[in-house]
Amino acid sequence: MNSLPDVQSKRILIADDEPFYLRTTRDLLRKAGFECECVSDADAAMRALQQSRFDLILSDLNMPGNLRLELLHDGRAKWPHTPVIVITGVPSLPSAIESLRLGIVDYLIKPVKYEDLLAAVRKALIGQQSVPDAAAASGQIRQECLQESPVSGIIGESPCMKELFSVLERVSNSDTNILITGESGTGKEVVAKSIHQRSSRSRHPFQIIDCTAIPEGLFESVLFGHAKGAFTGAIRDQKGLLSECHQGTAFFDEIGELPLMLQAKLLRTVQEQTFTPVGQTALRTFDTRFVCATNRDLAMEVRHGKFRRDLFYRLAVVHIELPPLRDRGADVMLLAHYFLRQLQPNGMHVSGFSDEVEACFLKYAWPGNVRELRNVVERALAFTRTPRIVISDLPASLSQSAADDGAGVGTLKFSGRQSSLKDAERRHLISLLQASGGNVSKAAIEAGVSRQGMHKMLVRYGINASDFRS
Ligand SMILES: Nc1ncnc2c1ncn2[C@@H]1O[C@H](COP(=O)(O)OP(=O)(O)OP(=O)(O)O)[C@@H](O)[C@H]1O
Ligand SMILES: [Mg+2]
Repeated sequence: MNSLPDVQSKRILIADDEPFYLRTTRDLLRKAGFECECVSDADAAMRALQQSRFDLILSDLNMPGNLRLELLHDGRAKWPHTPVIVITGVPSLPSAIESLRLGIVDYLIKPVKYEDLLAAVRKALIGQQSVPDAAAASGQIRQECLQESPVSGIIGESPCMKELFSVLERVSNSDTNILITGESGTGKEVVAKSIHQRSSRSRHPFQIIDCTAIPEGLFESVLFGHAKGAFTGAIRDQKGLLSECHQGTAFFDEIGELPLMLQAKLLRTVQEQTFTPVGQTALRTFDTRFVCATNRDLAMEVRHGKFRRDLFYRLAVVHIELPPLRDRGADVMLLAHYFLRQLQPNGMHVSGFSDEVEACFLKYAWPGNVRELRNVVERALAFTRTPRIVISDLPASLSQSAADDGAGVGTLKFSGRQSSLKDAERRHLISLLQASGGNVSKAAIEAGVSRQGMHKMLVRYGINASDFRS
C-alpha cells in the first residue's frame, strides 16, 4: 500500500538524554521513512531548531536544560506550528497538565509500543497540515482556482456548501452553541474556526480542546485549573483552559468520545457558565461560546444512552452537518486546483490535471473527504514529472477505481452520490484491513488514527480484523 508523502520523509527532532532510547527511537522512525536528528539536552534541541526546519519534535521531559520544561515553553513560543510529542519515563500530573496547556499534541509514557509511537507521530504530522487562511487564499492562490467563498478559508460552490455558508452567515455572530458533525476530513475544524473568526469574539482566543487527548483523570484540572496544593506537585495556582478562553470560543473536538462521567461535569459548566477549580470551593463565572464537533452520529449515541440527552440539547442548539466530499459535485475539482496551487513548492509549474485524473476524482468516493484529496494532491505533486498531474501520479486505489467499473470491495465506489456515510466508512475500513493483512495497528497508521480509535470503529461496524489475516 502506498504511504502518503505528507507524513513520510518528514524531519523529526528527537530530544532525550537516554542514549539507548534515542538510538532505538531513531532507528524505528527511520525505518518508517522519517528523517531523524537526535539531541540529548534542551539547549542542543533549541540550536537544532534554529539551524533547520523540523516537522515534529519528540521530547523527553527530564533531561538537562529542561527541568522547568524550557524546551516546551521556548520551543512552542518560537515555533508554534511545529507539533511536539512528549515522551516521558517519569509521568506526573503537573507536568502533564503544563504540557497539555502548552499545546503538545500527545503525552506518551515510556516504554512506548512501536505502533503507538508511529500512530502518534503520523497523527501529529497529519494534524500539522495548516488550515488555509484568508491571506494564503488571497495572495498565493490564483483567482480562478480559488473562487474565495463568502466564508474565508472554506472552499466550495456546490449547493450544499452555499447553504452551509448561508447558515454560517446567520449563526456565527451570536452566542448560540453549535454542534458540527460530518465524516472525518469534511472540514469540521475549518468551519469551527470560521465561526469564531466571523463572531464578535474573534479578537479573543479560540481554544481547541481535543476530548480524546486529555486523560480522563486530568480533564477537570486542564479545563477548570487547580489551586496550589490541590494535589501532590501542584506548587502554584494554575488557570484552566476555560479561564484562558474567556470571551472567546471553546472548540470541543471529538465531543462524542467524552466519557459519561465527564459529560455530567461539562453539562453543569455549559448550563451555568460556572466552574470550580480543582481544590477550591468558590464558583467562577466565565463567558465562552461552545462549538463542538464529532464524526459520530450523536443523536444515535443519545438514543443508545452513550451520550447525555441534556448535554446534546445544550450543545446542539444549532446543528451543522457537513456534507461528504462525494456529495459536493464539482467542488472536488475546485478544491483539487486550490490544493495544487497551495502545495506547489516555489519553482514548480504544474498547471492542472489530465482529463483522466479529473474523471477519476469525480468518480471516486473520497472516504477520507477533503483531507484525503489534499493528501492525494500533495502526493501527486511529489511524484509527477509532467506539467499536468496524470493518472500514474495517483495512488493505486484511486486509479483502479477509475479504470475498473465493477466495484469490488475496497475500490470505494458507490452507485449513487448520496451514498451513506456508514457504507463509505465500512468499505474504507475493509480496504485498510485488506491492505494490512488484518493488522489493526498498520491499518490505524494508514488511516492516521490511533489503534484504540481503529478498534472502536471496527466494533461499531461489526468488522472482525482476523477475517482479513493473510
Ligand atoms: N472546504 C474546505 N476548503 C478548504 N480546505 C478544506 C475544506 N474542508 C477541509 N479542508 C482541509 O481539509 C483538511 C481536513 O479538515 P478538518 O481538519 O477541518 O476536518 P475534520 O472534519 O475536522 O476532520 P476529523 O474528523 O478527522 O477531525 C484540512 O487540511 C483542511 O484545511
Ligand atoms: Mg477535526
